[in-house]
Amino acid sequence: MPHNVLTSQQIAIPKACIILKNKGAMNAIFDEQFRARTPKSAALFERAGRVLPGGVAGNGKFLPPYPIYVREAQGAEFLDVDGNRYVDLLMGGGVHILGHSPEAVMSAVESQLRGGVHFYMAAEAEVKLAEKVCQLMPHVEMVRFVNTGSEATQMALRAARAYRKRDKIAKFEGNFHGQHEAVLISTLGAEGPGDRPMPRIDSAGIPGATRDGVLALPYNDAERAAALIEQHADELGGVILEPVSAFGLGVVEAQPEFLKAVREVTARHEIPLIFDEVVTNFRLGLGGAAEYFGVTPDLTCLGKIVGGGFAIGGYGGRREIMDRVVTPHTGLWNLSEQIFQSGCFSGNPISMTAGLAVLTELEKGKVYPHVNRIAEKIQKGIIEIGNRLGFPILVNRAASFLQVHFGVTQIRNKRDHLSADKETANLFHSGLRAKGVMASYHPLFISAAHTEAHVQEVLQAAESVLGRMKSA
Ligand SMILES: Cc1ncc(COP(=O)(O)O)c(C=O)c1O
Repeated sequence: MPHNVLTSQQIAIPKACIILKNKGAMNAIFDEQFRARTPKSAALFERAGRVLPGGVAGNGKFLPPYPIYVREAQGAEFLDVDGNRYVDLLMGGGVHILGHSPEAVMSAVESQLRGGVHFYMAAEAEVKLAEKVCQLMPHVEMVRFVNTGSEATQMALRAARAYRKRDKIAKFEGNFHGQHEAVLISTLGAEGPGDRPMPRIDSAGIPGATRDGVLALPYNDAERAAALIEQHADELGGVILEPVSAFGLGVVEAQPEFLKAVREVTARHEIPLIFDEVVTNFRLGLGGAAEYFGVTPDLTCLGKIVGGGFAIGGYGGRREIMDRVVTPHTGLWNLSEQIFQSGCFSGNPISMTAGLAVLTELEKGKVYPHVNRIAEKIQKGIIEIGNRLGFPILVNRAASFLQVHFGVTQIRNKRDHLSADKETANLFHSGLRAKGVMASYHPLFISAAHTEAHVQEVLQAAESVLGRMKSA
């Protein structure tokens, strides 16, 4: 699919746009509406906070004033513990492209459940999913399944370093690759000049020396990125990037000439180029970013959709790389040449079976046109409402995921992203949640279960929230 058909980063900056002055008062209104409908979530949060840090299993799941605790989900909707119904635009963080609990996946998993859930041994389900991934993404000649996207990027980087026998990695400022040490550098914040970023540690607990192992690069700057890779080519074990930066930059596509330049310089120096497709795999289309952009990486990281709703990650790519540094040829580990990579639940038959069921559904061809069309309608609708009411809104979209930003006309890189008005975005999204639309200042994902009726519901909620914000 040509990327210019499905992609549109649309801008809508009306001449006289509203600058919200009393965000605090507005926040208090949405907060009160939310609290009035969610007393059971509030009570659960009270209990949870004593035993779970922040009451949640991951910081990203905490949304102020407290998380919505979910009772059950079906299709494009869920019920919270108070019995409120929501249109879900989070969809498991981009996992559920078919919707929650789709029949095809549920029935496949139900029969696998009775046949065993975890063996710590190889099983046919893993072979079948690997064959399907390699068939749909021909540049992935061999693949290893792991349990999360973070593990996928960690192991792909380890494989790249082992293959090229160099320690340093290059990553792009603002690209998110999960929660392990090397990739939480220059992800959430930025330091140094925009065209020559300094690596910045984004979390307490990451050793200072980690910074020395990372070259931070400017995203979507073809010339500077290529020049920096060229300059450090002798030190680099691999270069990793998000072909569409989802959670990192808020749905920002790599520009074609930028991707080409990075591919050219890495190929010339034989530095493995890794596409982190944890979000984009089977979201941009069956062939992933390589097909969408027409640029082929050496290694690809998988996750989310490919597990059919169950925990998964994966990394794979050129046979020469995977075979040399991952395949245990002799049965004995030669750990000076090859990477250590294992994992109790890696390749578990439930994730494998669910993943195969989802890919089989996607291959039928009906899902992509539907989800892309619904996403486009929501994008255009929100821009139209924002324009009409005089709000400076930017709605970025790639295929079927999108993100609403305020106060910027475009986002190309981390510096642009940091200049967006996050306070207003948070206000808008908390207003939506109080109206029964689950959204946060993260990418919003569309599934096959979203309908025209859901579009209308989302747009009505957006209109009401923006109208309320305007009147404040
Ligand atoms: C591009 C990208 N890579 C890696 C990850 C990490 O995946 P996980 O949360 O499964 O560890 C994410 C998570 O959202 C992601 O967006």
